Amino acid sequence: MLSETIENALNKQIKLEANACMRYLAMATWAEVIGYNGVAGFFYKQSDEERIHMLKLVKFVNERGGTAEIPSLEAPKSTYKDLHELFGNFLESEEAVTESINHLVFQTLEEKNYTVHNFLQWYVAEQAEEEALARTILDKLKIIGDDKSGTYLFDKDIEGIVAQTELNEAQE
Ligand code: FEO
Repeated sequence: MLSETIENALNKQIKLEANACMRYLAMATWAEVIGYNGVAGFFYKQSDEERIHMLKLVKFVNERGGTAEIPSLEAPKSTYKDLHELFGNFLESEEAVTESINHLVFQTLEEKNYTVHNFLQWYVAEQAEEEALARTILDKLKIIGDDKSGTYLFDKDIEGIVAQTELNEAQE
């Protein structure tokens, strides 16, 4: 069973994941139109992942006797100054999701709801991975600075990261 507090908090998380899904889709579109195909592929994939994060929550809430609320979505930011701003926003977005997950975990401990606590551990691990990835990419971008050929290679590099992740996932 879910208390009203936990059900509301899980529904709030559904909305956060849904908004992240749309935010990354807008990032993918921005990158694709400019011609950063590697970066576009990266954000299309991130957007797909956020939809999965949202769906897992929707199904969990419904299975636990609650009712998942399918939210209306905020219009995402659609233009970026450059890749630094783009990936800076990506990190900020992930940090906000992590903060929300951490708060949810805290609430489950307060209520001694170990079923939801256990379910959320997947999200805790996922957030650690996503934040680490965003920081690694931002570090690369800092080294490149405004160098045009560096940016071109960076885009190719990201394409490689996406292809490798897809290969690893296919083998799992
Ligand atoms: Fe589902 Fe990347 O937060």
